[in-house]
Amino acid sequence: MKIIESIREMQDIAKKAKREQIRIGFVPTMGFLHEGHLSLVRVARKENAQVAASIFINPTQFGPHEDFNAYPRDLERDITLLEREQVDIVFIPKIDQIYSENHRTFVFVEKIAENLCGYFRPGHFQGVVTIVCKLFHIIQPDTAYFGQKDYQQLMVIKKMVADLNMDIEIKGLPIVREKDGLAMSSRNTYLTEEQREQALCLYRLINQAKKMREEGVDRAPEIITALKKNIEMETMVRPEYIRICHPETLKNLQVIKDRALLAMAIHVGKTRLIDNCLL
Ligand code: PAF
Repeated sequence: MKIIESIREMQDIAKKAKREQIRIGFVPTMGFLHEGHLSLVRVARKENAQVAASIFINPTQFGPHEDFNAYPRDLERDITLLEREQVDIVFIPKIDQIYSENHRTFVFVEKIAENLCGYFRPGHFQGVVTIVCKLFHIIQPDTAYFGQKDYQQLMVIKKMVADLNMDIEIKGLPIVREKDGLAMSSRNTYLTEEQREQALCLYRLINQAKKMREEGVDRAPEIITALKKNIEMETMVRPEYIRICHPETLKNLQVIKDRALLAMAIHVGKTRLIDNCLL
């Protein structure tokens, strides 16, 4: 596995792959890898002649009071895991290479980035879309793989790719959960045992919403009220949002006609967690 730090070197490899018509599958990450990331790598491995992953904790997607400095890091372990999955290239740029002092260009997706996490984390998706756009230009993948846990991120990136006419296929892959239902996230490492227990409420709410749908409840506010009531029992949990919205536009729904997205964000202690499911 090649470990590349230089943008120029990475672009040269990408250009060569393009010339030789070698398909590149790309998995962007912020490191501290878990089974969710590895599930993306495995699909990328199956579908492409060359697999590239990136590890870059992107400062521009963190708000001023968020966990950029505390974000978990274990580069050595990440490299071992990626090597084990037979990744060909891991791109690990330094911050000042990606963002020079003079960096003035950001990519912004309207509307779809404004609800849910976009509302509570102003500037977050601008940071995500900008770094993903930059990584796409550096790595030049044919297909890029993202987890559906960050559903809004996936939709925003799909929109950016469509609107900017990028010739890249975006694949969203299912959420990977622990045995007890907690969605895998690098941030789970912040949780104490007790907090982790309470964080499981997210999975309980998903099952409750699915059950209500099966029973024929189609009014979104009725489902949301029931979920909010359920979450009140968790003393350490502070809900940020619980929304039912259209799976493509991400606009809030009143009545569920066809498919809908249940999207949630909570704070457990100082840790912010998200989860979602299609209803
Ligand atoms: O999902 C993530 O880990 C990040 O948001 C991404 C896509 C790697 C961009 O920094």
